[in-house]
Amino acid sequence: MKEYKRYLVTSALPYANGPVHIGHLAGVYIPSDIYVRYLRLRGRDVIWVCGSDEHGVPITIKARKEGVSPQDIVDKYNKIIKESFEGLGISFDIYSRTTSPTHAKTASDFFLTLYEKGEFTEETTMQYYDEEAGIFLADRYITGTCPKCGSEGAYGDQCEKCGSTLNATDLINPRSAVSGSTPVLRETKHWYLPLDRHEEFLRRWILEDHKEWKTNVYGQCKSWLDGGLQPRAVSRDLDWGIPVPLKGAEGKVLYVWFDAPIGYISATKDLTPDWEKYWKSEDTKMVHFIGKDNIVFHCIVFPAMLRAHGGYILPDNVPANEFLNLEGEKISTSRNWAVWLNEYLEDMPGKQDVLRYVLTANAPETKDNDFTWKEFQARNNNELVAVLGNFVNRALVLTGKYFDGKVPAAGELQDIDREALAELPRTRESLENNIEHYRFREALKDAMNFARVGNKYLADTEPWKAIKSDPERVATILNVALQITANTALAIEPFMPFSAEKMWKMLAMEKPAWDRLGGSDIVPAGHAIGKPELLFDKIEDETIDRQLRKLEEAKKANIAAAAPIDPQKDTVSFDDFQKMDIRVARITAAEKVAKTKKLLKLTVDTGIDTREIVSGIAEHYSPEELVGRQVLVLVNLAPRELKGIMSSGMILMAADASGKLVLLQPESEVRPGTTVG
Ligand code: MF3
Ligand code: ZN
Repeated sequence: MKEYKRYLVTSALPYANGPVHIGHLAGVYIPSDIYVRYLRLRGRDVIWVCGSDEHGVPITIKARKEGVSPQDIVDKYNKIIKESFEGLGISFDIYSRTTSPTHAKTASDFFLTLYEKGEFTEETTMQYYDEEAGIFLADRYITGTCPKCGSEGAYGDQCEKCGSTLNATDLINPRSAVSGSTPVLRETKHWYLPLDRHEEFLRRWILEDHKEWKTNVYGQCKSWLDGGLQPRAVSRDLDWGIPVPLKGAEGKVLYVWFDAPIGYISATKDLTPDWEKYWKSEDTKMVHFIGKDNIVFHCIVFPAMLRAHGGYILPDNVPANEFLNLEGEKISTSRNWAVWLNEYLEDMPGKQDVLRYVLTANAPETKDNDFTWKEFQARNNNELVAVLGNFVNRALVLTGKYFDGKVPAAGELQDIDREALAELPRTRESLENNIEHYRFREALKDAMNFARVGNKYLADTEPWKAIKSDPERVATILNVALQITANTALAIEPFMPFSAEKMWKMLAMEKPAWDRLGGSDIVPAGHAIGKPELLFDKIEDETIDRQLRKLEEAKKANIAAAAPIDPQKDTVSFDDFQKMDIRVARITAAEKVAKTKKLLKLTVDTGIDTREIVSGIAEHYSPEELVGRQVLVLVNLAPRELKGIMSSGMILMAADASGKLVLLQPESEVRPGTTVG
């Protein structure tokens, strides 16, 4: 294996069109944070760059929908994303933005270099144009039926149902996402990166020189390469992006997938004047952390760009992960089927490490995986609380109780002590080997193994029993237990930095150097430890149920939003309409109808009289919420008996997006009895 002098780690730049969710975290940001924290602990020269990806069509579509500018959208989400990453302890050296001036210049110059070297081809082709909106329809601006799988709603660049990469002109029944109109074909000129020219190199570089890449990554690259590479357009007709820096290219911008990876370079420039050392020296090991949907861009397109430019290194590895599902369904930003990081941090204060732990333990490293709140709860309660927290707490509390918080000196070691201590260097070796090979789930098991060993050691040696008969033996046991505790604190740091910090505080020690890991002499005898605190709390059903209800709501809203609007009913005459007597009325009393779930008996002052109406809103409003409210009532509806109550009239209501019934209420108070019409 090659020896490197320094590391350049990149993590996929998240699109600034929504917050980050657990799928992003499990796939990209948590593994890269573990890797980088580990490298730093080992004293390696490493920088880690990331930032918001702020160009591309989805951002402009979102802006249009919300009636704001694309800049507003990216400003909003860049802030949310950056702050929530910080909240979870994701420790980038820089979190930059692709709307930065450095980036505009870097990407623009990169394009020009390729252009001047003749690395592009120019092609004039027919592309869809929306005559109503007066714009070319790039990528997601166009939707239609997928030519591969026949499903509706495929995009101009991709079908999300079957995952095929598409050309807009392949879509059956194309429609503009902007105006809904049927687009026409128009001529337009663009610049293309002829990937076919790099095919031979890429075949050798990936398929022969990087056989060690993860099977999922290698496999995807092989199938792209076997399919034959095609030229790819690197510009678009759009008004949001970095302008193509050529004369006669007005209205054209760089394609987002051309500028975004260059964002790694711009971010490095913003981080350090020494950026070239990281990007241009063969002594640098570059690693791209991404999700599987980004593989082609990082393994094929970006390397081809870097090579065409010249002077840049290529990645040593691209440890892409598969996808994480949520409660059995694909995570979706547009359907709000996700656990959003910013909301998690608000809902579960102080539980950053729990999320980091669960998402690592269950990371989709080799196949798609599922996140469930039940598993989240179980892992917290059975692993973090019962193993890690329990062990650490016992070791510290017993030291406080029996030795007044002073680390006792060890006497002669017995076999059981030696066996426990012998596990430590073995576990360290396995942990290092796993992290260096991007096997973070296994590495986390190793880190937890320190605590497991400690937990078992205390259970086997039972110092709480031995204290009466043999206090000297207990001194040895607790010395060993504290050495294991310190080992645990060091080992979990890359995975659970918040808990590691708490542990050093409780041990009243500075974090020692990584090379002490595996040792039996980290905590010196006589050292006074600090006050023990609980590392983790049990998570109750209630907490989990609240999260599940939140998802239930999202699902209901989706179903309601997808429901068709009723077609218009047959025409009625004005006279017919006049027959309906609708009045403003006030609810004066409300109570549940016994033995029913849905019905309330309402007493209403209609201005004409006081009467009773039975209404099916018990699941949407409590009786207390209703009393005193003004509502609209159809007062001349023929009375009918419901559950033994005569109901005279109907309260007018509508169902909102989630299916909840909402009352219709005059905008300001109106005298009861006033006619509506
Ligand atoms: N924004 C892209 C995504 O979320 C990732 C861009 S990675 C970069 O899928 F390399 F282009 F920056
Ligand atoms: Zn399809």
